[in-house]
Amino acid sequence: MKPSVPLAGVVGDPISHSKSPLLFRHWLKRYGIAGHYIPMPIAAENFEQVIRALPKAGFVGLNVTLPHKTAALAIADKTTDRAIMIGAANTLIFRRDGLIHADNTDGYGFIANLKAGAPNWDPFWGSAAVLGAGGAARAVISSLLEAGVQEILLSNRTKGKADTLRSDFGSRVTVVDWIEAGDAIEEAKTIVNTTSLGMVGQPELRVPLDGLAPGDVVTDLVYAPLETGLLATARAAGCTVIDGLGMLLHQAVPGFERWFGQRPEVTEDTRLAVL
Ligand code: ATR
Repeated sequence: MKPSVPLAGVVGDPISHSKSPLLFRHWLKRYGIAGHYIPMPIAAENFEQVIRALPKAGFVGLNVTLPHKTAALAIADKTTDRAIMIGAANTLIFRRDGLIHADNTDGYGFIANLKAGAPNWDPFWGSAAVLGAGGAARAVISSLLEAGVQEILLSNRTKGKADTLRSDFGSRVTVVDWIEAGDAIEEAKTIVNTTSLGMVGQPELRVPLDGLAPGDVVTDLVYAPLETGLLATARAAGCTVIDGLGMLLHQAVPGFERWFGQRPEVTEDTRLAVL
């Protein structure tokens, strides 16, 4: 028997820090939807077994966070091209026919947040500078390329990781030495920090920022604090500044719509609900 109240949730290890339950419960309440969203700590060795059992318990899908994003892609029966390009899944959809469908909505969330914060943002303005070459950078780069950005100046402390992204994503990515990251920032119109630098408890981002110019769009994936050192400097330089919380909110939109049948809106209330 299929339960009438849909269940969804988020799996990770640990999971207590996740903001997704606050976010989903805020939307369920706003739209008067009878559904539940449950955080579940699952150890890596039990991941597949638990995931395969959840549809039978009434689950319609899951968000996936660390350390399971690669495993989620591997166990899925169907995967989107963007999840394969990113090499990780953050959203699982349990289909009625029993198949598990894996998607990655991080890139979607990144671009949706960019467009919400800079409505006139145009991928053809010029190059984008991306700092960092970890998992988050893969999602950012693939979505910027898909949006039409012609050149990405990619700079990472460990150059070999940037070189790998260059070979995965192709010639629109140019690798810039970390020591020259300031030059990439000066050349670019869109600047994105995907490193953990500037986060509470982490060192500050120390790349030269004097190349920031009025009209540049600057965004940081770090959202604790909301205004990182990078964003404060960019604001003072007259740039359009977009914090990282919005990406977290927007990446959840496709899952919520799919599971609960309502496309949720990201509003100021939504930000307050998770802060
Ligand atoms: P995520 O999935 O959030 O991208 P990650 O894969 O651990 O996380 O990547 C973290 C990024 O922050 C990397 O680009 C990392 O640079 P390295 O590849 O050189 O490790 C960057 N980073 C973390 N600490 C850093 C530091 N002290 N200086 C420069 N870059 C740093």
